[in-house]
Amino acid sequence: MMMSGILKRNIAGVVARRGLATEVVQEPRLKTFKIYRWNPDHPADKPKLQEFKVDLNKCGPMVLDALLKIKDEQDATLTLRRSCREGICGSCAMNIGGRNTLACLCKIDTDVSKQTKIYPLPHMYIVKDLVPDLTQFYKQYKSVQPYLQRSKMPEDGKENLQSIEDRKKLDGLYECILCACCSTSCPSYWWNQEQYLGPAVLMQAYRWLIDSRDEASKFRKEMLQNSMSLYRCHTIMNCTRTCPKGLNPGYAIAEIKKALATS
Ligand code: SF4
Ligand code: SF4
Ligand code: FES
Repeated sequence: MMMSGILKRNIAGVVARRGLATEVVQEPRLKTFKIYRWNPDHPADKPKLQEFKVDLNKCGPMVLDALLKIKDEQDATLTLRRSCREGICGSCAMNIGGRNTLACLCKIDTDVSKQTKIYPLPHMYIVKDLVPDLTQFYKQYKSVQPYLQRSKMPEDGKENLQSIEDRKKLDGLYECILCACCSTSCPSYWWNQEQYLGPAVLMQAYRWLIDSRDEASKFRKEMLQNSMSLYRCHTIMNCTRTCPKGLNPGYAIAEIKKALATS
């Protein structure tokens, strides 16, 4: 019988016979990754893209799998953040093939004729290689006081209840994992990072603004009522396009603007 073209490609022509058993060795599928490198211990050296080749036959399907394989087998100094490897912790956010996303949710482009370039999140100070400094991002998150504020707690000392309808208003907001993919894709955030809060933090500001159990909405609105914190958003919507969790920070920002206009 004729062997199909695909099968022929996968079988490398090295077929060792041992008794009755047949061992099939696959031809390597070498994918090239070009990865941003910068080492703070050598600050005078310019950042560079370093090339690594990974055999996709021996690698998991996601970009994070390839990065960890490179770190394990080729260069232990390659530095990146990751923890959960399932899109929950938000720590593996980086720019892959021109898009901000999570390395653990991003499938490797299996076309080995194309290289994949990997950079840290854009327009951020870099700690090392693929690790951005998120100090300012977290400072801004803290500034919106992202926690429930009430003068009285329930008399039974248990839960602050809310209706099913009110709870539903938080859907699409509470799922944010604060990966910063959206904020670092926003041109307004690139140029005004010191004062503009950016889409991720504004979406969390909105999450607390519309929580029926929270009593600080007046204060929360006042905090945003200035020319920089919120109104630097020009509805370019890069944020919503890039969110690896499928959330819509651009919509949340538009809703805050509406709430401020009518208050
Ligand atoms: S919609 Fe606003 S927050 Fe989102 S990318 Fe555009 S300017 Fe930035
Ligand atoms: S809105 Fe999406 S992209 Fe932005 S921080 Fe949250 S999960 Fe990340
Ligand atoms: S490792 Fe946690 S989101 Fe990717």
